[in-house]
Amino acid sequence: MLAIIGGSGLTTLSNLDVAHREIIRTPYGEPSGAIVIGRIGGQPAMFLPRHGYGHTIAPHKVNYRANLWALRQRGATGVISVASVGGIRSDLQPGEIVIPDQIIDYTWGRQSTYYEAVGIPVTHVDFTEPYDPELRRRIVAAAAALSIPAKVGGVYAATQGPRLETAAEINRFERDGADLVGMTGMPEAVLARELGLPYAAINVIANHAAGRGNSANGIHFESLEHVLREAMGEVRALIEKLVGSPDSCPPMGMAG
Ligand code: HPA
Repeated sequence: MLAIIGGSGLTTLSNLDVAHREIIRTPYGEPSGAIVIGRIGGQPAMFLPRHGYGHTIAPHKVNYRANLWALRQRGATGVISVASVGGIRSDLQPGEIVIPDQIIDYTWGRQSTYYEAVGIPVTHVDFTEPYDPELRRRIVAAAAALSIPAKVGGVYAATQGPRLETAAEINRFERDGADLVGMTGMPEAVLARELGLPYAAINVIANHAAGRGNSANGIHFESLEHVLREAMGEVRALIEKLVGSPDSCPPMGMAG
């Protein structure tokens, strides 16, 4: 069963027919909220809002370990992360959907591994490809089937937040090779990997990153909400298609 973790702009999944909600306790504390379990387009799926139901949990305060643990505990076989981001690359416009393929992690002080308890052997997971290629292929195929012009590939810079970046920080991220910037992609992706859960992301460009495009002189929050509302409609459709085509997509040679 696919699990969807929703970020800013996607705190509920209106196309999820809710069967029930479950509060899962974990050895790592409380997840962001109850897991909503139900069906999307007739297929089983579950949903968890990353920032809590009242959108009150800041990116650096999200209990990523509890969230991923709870989803796996409840039977998730894959996780789709939905998150809004700032666009660094000049072709990325507000409202566009990106399926990233790489991550640079600039976060700090977050609990980013399950392998740190006393007596547990040190374990180094492979993270060369941070997103699951097959799950990415399925997202790309679903977007193509719906004629949603998602951009395939991109380097996600994970920042600490909750403040937005300075223009100089964005310039540095670009020099490092980043295309988009968000606050929640890590350690979520690596914790999923540690649990053996296939994980991929659907990112929605909410704004030009600081110092870029129409954010040259500051980021205008008034326009963000509208952009996200529009784009999340597409994301819901994309998720419905994805959940409705379980594992059966033919391999796509050029999916990236
Ligand atoms: N920076 C970091 N995170 C974000 C942004 C941004 O510009 N927009 C949406 N999430």
